[in-house]
Amino acid sequence: MTPVLLDCDPGHDDAIAIMLAAGDSAVDLLAITTVAGNQTLGKTTLNALRVCTLAGIRDVPVGAGCARPLTRPLRVAADVHGASGLDGPRFAEPTVRAVGEHAVDLVHRVLHEHPEPVTVVPTGPLTNIALLLTRYPGDAARIREIVLMGGSTERGNVGPYAEFNIFVDPEAAAIVFGSGVPVTMCGLNVTHQALVTPDVVARLEALGGELGPVCAELMTFFASTYRELWGFEAPPLHDPVAVARVIDPALVECVDAHVAIEVAGEHTRGATVVDLHGYLGHAPNAKVAVGLDVPRFWDRLVAALGRLNGRRGGG
Ligand code: BDR
Ligand code: CA
Repeated sequence: MTPVLLDCDPGHDDAIAIMLAAGDSAVDLLAITTVAGNQTLGKTTLNALRVCTLAGIRDVPVGAGCARPLTRPLRVAADVHGASGLDGPRFAEPTVRAVGEHAVDLVHRVLHEHPEPVTVVPTGPLTNIALLLTRYPGDAARIREIVLMGGSTERGNVGPYAEFNIFVDPEAAAIVFGSGVPVTMCGLNVTHQALVTPDVVARLEALGGELGPVCAELMTFFASTYRELWGFEAPPLHDPVAVARVIDPALVECVDAHVAIEVAGEHTRGATVVDLHGYLGHAPNAKVAVGLDVPRFWDRLVAALGRLNGRRGGG
């Protein structure tokens, strides 16, 4: 089992990423931390607690982190995820509570308490992780790798070349990519292969129990905004791709490359400059995802959600 810390901003795809990490037997989920991104910190934290309550994830501490990017005002994605950050289904009042510790201190403590280096999976802006590496530089040695959802080798989704998670806090992303910790970047070029087709929605619905209908409703809402904003026939389920890379590296093919973050570009703030051909002469600082085994990705995801559902006594 790979020990994992999941840092997220739920968010429809983050919600599924939480369930995948908690439900797959290859992952030992040590903590869930939240950051402002898709919505304000209060909302992303509430959403993480809603998901944990729904999925019966009671033994994993949830800690709230940074309420805004390191140096910039927060930009949220209400157009994609709705006013709550998790629009669509009705959620019961959460019975899982957040711990009092700040996310950065929770991650720091878990890194030191765990006997082996831990894999960190950020699926939101990188504010918490950059702050951790700045405040506790020695923690870099306790992190086995950072496997993140963010960036793109191609075009962006919030600017011509910028992906949302990197765009929201590019200074944080620059710290993470420059930290010397092994980084794997799962960007839009790959997550846009993980399309939630009607067949996938039907498989989620068929899980039944507590999870099936809620996951199907989440995906139906997510599909509606992707259709409206970008004309997608089926929405891309970004964040679980990073979790899948940890579960089974063979699911996500990667190449070594240098990635620079555009923090001050005139038209390109938040772009990930992925030097796939080594033009700039820098040593690679990341593994960059370039391929996804789509059928096996969905099989693994549906199986993990089914396992969680079974533990709740559903399905
Ligand atoms: C990323 O941005 C967020 O809206 C999603 O949750 C995902 O992490 C995709 O660009
Ligand atoms: Ca996210």
